[in-house]
Amino acid sequence: MEKSQVKRESWGSRIGFILAAAGSAVGLGNIWRFPYLTGTNGGGAFILIYLFFILGVGLSIMIAEFAVGRRANLAAVGAFKKFDKRFTFIGVLGVLSAFFIMGFYPVVGGWALAYVFKSVTGLLSNQAAIGDAFGAFISGSYEPLIWMLIYLFANIVIVARGVQGGIEKASKIMMPMLYVLLIIIAIRSITLPGAGAGLEFILKPDFSQVTGSTFLAALGQAFFSLSLGMGCMLTYGSYLSKEENLQKNALIVTLMDTSVALLAAIAIFPALFAFGMEPAVGPGLVFVVVPSVFAQMGGLGVILSVIFFVALTLAALTSSVSLLEVVTAYLIDERRMERKKATYLAGGIMVITGTLSSLSMGVLSDFNILFGVGFFDFFDILTDKIFLAIGGMVIAIFVGWFMKKEDLKDELTNSGTVEFGLFEVWYAVTKYIIPLAIGAVAVAGILSIEQTALMIFGIVLIAVLAIFSKKL
Ligand code: PHE
Repeated sequence: MEKSQVKRESWGSRIGFILAAAGSAVGLGNIWRFPYLTGTNGGGAFILIYLFFILGVGLSIMIAEFAVGRRANLAAVGAFKKFDKRFTFIGVLGVLSAFFIMGFYPVVGGWALAYVFKSVTGLLSNQAAIGDAFGAFISGSYEPLIWMLIYLFANIVIVARGVQGGIEKASKIMMPMLYVLLIIIAIRSITLPGAGAGLEFILKPDFSQVTGSTFLAALGQAFFSLSLGMGCMLTYGSYLSKEENLQKNALIVTLMDTSVALLAAIAIFPALFAFGMEPAVGPGLVFVVVPSVFAQMGGLGVILSVIFFVALTLAALTSSVSLLEVVTAYLIDERRMERKKATYLAGGIMVITGTLSSLSMGVLSDFNILFGVGFFDFFDILTDKIFLAIGGMVIAIFVGWFMKKEDLKDELTNSGTVEFGLFEVWYAVTKYIIPLAIGAVAVAGILSIEQTALMIFGIVLIAVLAIFSKKL
């Protein structure tokens, strides 16, 4: 019945799907956020914990999301509604998460876009001033706002036309290019005099700085980076053909995502230490260290810098398009809106949230009415530290305790035609270990984090949605 209401699109090819899913996963999370979180959370110890969550939790949740999406043949809200209305709220939470992530993501996307142009307009000519230039740029009112709006506009144009054509082709060219550039920067970075301290920072785990909030940061980042816990991979899985091997594709996407994050860390930290900079600078990290490396390379550095920020912008774009698509697909499927209208409505709200976030870096920086944080941090912390991890936990509970095991086995072996040797392991991990692990990390993290009021607000919001789940 659902099928006749909504015409389901499907991926053209296996590589098309992998590129789209990897395009969603690989983004600002890997190149902008992973390095700065590593920097503020003590280096190697954070990376180890992160890798543990990627393989121990993220991979299994990705398999689960693919399985639920393909089984239901519907996007997040519709899928949970179809299986069990008590879980509809988790789809709704996903749509809300997409809105919130899009509250800050386009701001950073706009910075990346701006740096394409700044690379050729003299930014690299004075290496010592690159850090201050970044601070001055993002705290301005109009300049970052305009770049954010241009970036957001690109998202709206692409999603309004349907995702297939342009963005998939662009990621086919730009993703390999991004890899090549990161490798070039990484090689330059580790061969700088004084680079050893940076390698030590990322390779030698120092557990003395690890607290409950380090674990929560690593877990949240694992979900954010793999686009999990909010129905994005579930939606992408719903467009997949029955012939595809879900667990194999999940493994490929996970490995691609992780390798980009690690490469970014190798590209950034040795150079950072070589230049005598501080690792714990926060969100400005990639916008300061990478241009500094290129500034040392003369004319070639300018060209590489342009290419790097173009690639970063496109990597970001393939992710934010998937976020806008989650909201748009919901409006189309559940609210019966026409695609263009749905995109403009969702995009219009994002213009408002993005504007508030962008201004919260400058003129609105004292405007901390949202539980003691500004707009940018409100959207960022709420999704990354609460919604995605709890979303993932509820998905694991749903799959482990409320779906039939035979159905899962059937879905993951394509009705017995492909092997999934580790099915029992995956099932046990998803059913028992993941809910307990996320629960423990969430409690420990919330107790040790500074923004306790914000965390409680997030949890109350989820609880209210859960109570009204059947009415959503
Ligand atoms: N995974 C993307 C990144 O790393 C962000 C994202 C999160 C995209 C959730 C979709 C859903 O940049």
